[in-house]
Parts: sequence; C-alpha cells; structure tokens
Amino acid sequence: MTRTVYLNGDYLPETEAKISIFDRGFLMADGVYEVTSVLDGKLIDFGGHCVRLARSLSELEMQNPHSDAEWLAIHRELVAKNAITDGMVYLQVTRGNPGDRDFAYPSEDVTPTVVLFTQNKPGLADNPVAKVGFKVISIPDIRWGRRDIKTVQLLYPSMGKMAAKKAGVDDSWFVEEGVVTEGTSNNAYIVKGNKIITRALSSDILHGITRAAVLRFAVEAQMEVEERAFSIAEAQAADEAFITSASAFVMPVVEIDGASVGTGKPGHIVARLREIYLDEMRKAAV
Ligand code: PDD
Repeated sequence: MTRTVYLNGDYLPETEAKISIFDRGFLMADGVYEVTSVLDGKLIDFGGHCVRLARSLSELEMQNPHSDAEWLAIHRELVAKNAITDGMVYLQVTRGNPGDRDFAYPSEDVTPTVVLFTQNKPGLADNPVAKVGFKVISIPDIRWGRRDIKTVQLLYPSMGKMAAKKAGVDDSWFVEEGVVTEGTSNNAYIVKGNKIITRALSSDILHGITRAAVLRFAVEAQMEVEERAFSIAEAQAADEAFITSASAFVMPVVEIDGASVGTGKPGHIVARLREIYLDEMRKAAV
C-alpha cells in the first residue's frame, strides 16, 4: 500500500514526495530526527519527543518549524491517514536547501525541510523476541562526541547493526575507554539484585525518552537506580541486562559477546519493567 507522507506542509503519496539534491540533510547529514511509537492508534510519550527535538534543533542553531501542538496535529493526521494501530512515526527536520553545497550554514531564511512518515508494525508491543531476549556483541564506539543530539548521521550505528547481523546476534553495544556507552539505537542497562545500573546522561549518549520513563517507573516500583558506567565484564556477570528505545520499549539482553547473562533467559526484573512501562505509557498516550 502506498503510504501518505508529510513533506513541508503537504500530505502526499510517498512516490510524490521529492527533496532537492542540495538539501543539507542529504549532503551533510545536517538534520535531526525523532521516532515516536504508536500503540492502539495513540502516540507514546509524545511530550518527551517534542522536548528532545527542540533541544536537538537548538544545539544545531536551527529554528523549530512548529509548535508542539502543530507537531501533534501532523502526527495524528498521518496516523489517521495511514490507519496505523501499532507502529511508528518518523520525523526529520533538516537545514533545508540553500541551492548549492557549502560547509557553512546558510542564512536563516532558508526554510528547513520537514519530513514525516509512518511505519506500520502490527503487534509492536507483543514482539515475541521480548520473551527470548537479545544477544549482543561489543564493538568500539567511534562515533562523534555529540551523541546527545539526535542527528541523522547513522552510518556507524548501521555498521554496528551489520556487525551484529554477521555475528548472528541481534545488536551491538558500543564500548569506549573500557565501558559501555549505549546500543546502536538504544540505551543499555544491567541489573544487580534490585538495582538498575545505566550510564549517566552526558554528550556520550543519546538522552533516551524511554530511559527517562523507565528509570522513573523503576524508582516508583522500589527498585534502586545507579547512574554510572559499566564494563562488558561487569555486564556479563550481572543478574540481568536490557536495552530501551521508543521502538523496542524494554528488551531483555541475554547474551553479551557469547557469554550468557544470568540464567541466559529474560529475568523477572526486566519483564516487570517492560510490563509497567507498556501499561503506564498506554495510559498516558495521546
Ligand atoms: N533510536 N541511543 C541511541 C543511539 C538511539 O538511536 C536511540 C533511539 C536511543 C533510545 O532513545 P529513545 O528511548 O528516545 O528512543 C538511545 C531510535 C529508536 C531510532 O533511531 O530508530
């Protein structure tokens, strides 16, 4: 089925949405993005994505082309037009088309390019992999130093996914200076007893919207939260491990570089966090 997508104010069939070859998103990866999940036709943690989008744009000295209310209206319109029950809305804002290639940013009267599209994922929250868990390998983190800005420079994360695929596992965890930063497209955690351990926020990792919600729910459920870095060896010796992202929610990790974590099966703390996260976020969806 041909999707209806959004481009600069218009809702168009995907085959008719065209962008200039001079768009800085295409030439320079000069753009930011957000991915918001849809469950039962509603947007999950939409407010959090709006806050991070505004921050990413501001860090790159780009104007936010829409108010939060306008972003919400566009998201809802696309969900309705594409009859999405479960899936995702992808949003991208680039610095637009200055009409030529130049490293310097163009003047602010160049209008940003705004693209949104939906991805239909029936049963997104019932992914059977959540019952089995992810296997991951570790690879060096050689990304740039502003991972807190959600830019569209995703080549190294793509290489990380391919490395995982070639190794016959589900994902890669990035390691820098002997400790884990995050997954290719998710934040990384370990569990020891009743304690959830995850790296503290800094420019070394993306400030996950799911991370913020999960840590809040963990505290409310009387779990302990410790924000600090951990090594692969510590993760392999942990009771449980998991990742979070807007599209995977809370996903157990059962194997790291060939070593089983805990029993080698998804543990009860991660299962509980996933359940709480999905219940609470469905209630708060808009
Ligand atoms: N990825 N870290 C990285 C490097 C990410 O790309 C993502 C999200 C996260 C988790 O952030 P959040 O909980 O806000 O989704 C952490 C999205 C899902 C993607 O690129 O598709």
